[in-house]
Amino acid sequence: MTASEKTENTRVSLTYAKGRNINDPDLDPVSRKPLEQASGTSIFDPVLCELAYTWFCPKGGMVLDPFAGGSVRGIVASKLGRRYLGVDLRAEQIEANYVQAARICAEPLPEWRQGDSRELDRIAEDVEADFVFTCPPYADLEVYSDDPADISTMDYPEFLAAYRTIVARACALLRDDRFAMYVVGDVRGPDGTYRNLVSDTIAAFHDAGLRLYNEAILVTSVGSLPIRAGKQFSTSRKLGKTHQNCLVFLKGDAKKATLACGEVEVAFPEGIEEGAVEPA
Ligand SMILES: C[S@@+](CC[C@H](N)C(=O)[O-])C[C@H]1O[C@@H](n2cnc3c(N)ncnc32)[C@H](O)[C@@H]1O
Repeated sequence: MTASEKTENTRVSLTYAKGRNINDPDLDPVSRKPLEQASGTSIFDPVLCELAYTWFCPKGGMVLDPFAGGSVRGIVASKLGRRYLGVDLRAEQIEANYVQAARICAEPLPEWRQGDSRELDRIAEDVEADFVFTCPPYADLEVYSDDPADISTMDYPEFLAAYRTIVARACALLRDDRFAMYVVGDVRGPDGTYRNLVSDTIAAFHDAGLRLYNEAILVTSVGSLPIRAGKQFSTSRKLGKTHQNCLVFLKGDAKKATLACGEVEVAFPEGIEEGAVEPA
């Protein structure tokens, strides 16, 4: 198969996914594992997803996700009445996403397209996004396939060039006066020092004409870190990391972007009225 055939934008229709001969609907159609275990990658946090859409994406708005991976961001978008287009290189992941969405979602149904997001201007040319939202490969921390177009297979300088192209293309498809959110975590290079992926992401957005507007820390599950961290710390002084960075960028005017997103429910502590405390 040629590279261009591999990256050709083939839509896998929901009808196709629904119509597949799936003997057991709880099994992933690709791996035949239970759906919960089928994803070869980490699962995106659905609560973070709900907050991101509620706070930063207009109701009924269009979400563009250039590194879709699993189905979570698409399914939560649908449940919250947002339209969603996810692009990913891996056709088998897209198929699995459609099968899951067919079981869970009603209108607006999420859509996934297969292709290399460096060609997002072609793959998503019909899209005017109200929110760019993704979780990119953290360099080569998880390698998703052996496709040479998969940026997780690239060395860091090549990764960064491709990554910056994809950020620029996604931002070009974002309407003015809207937000974008990337969830990223830094990774270490071969000498043990950090690559600086978070700063590189901010620089890529700045070069695409957006500005960093919010940063929030996602505290990730500690898991087996306490077991691993002690040895690692005593032999190398590396601290164990249990967080990822949620970077929110602004395209255009903050007031207009906020207005477009509509009202959000903010709970004030008992006895404190809205507006009673001056913002810092
Ligand atoms: C971080 S993963 C997504 C997994 C993530 N934990 C999640 O579900 O949100 C990033 C995805 O980027 C995809 N990817 C890598 N290079 C790509 C490219 N050039 N174009 C489109 N997708 C790409 C991989 O196939 C992978 O599914």
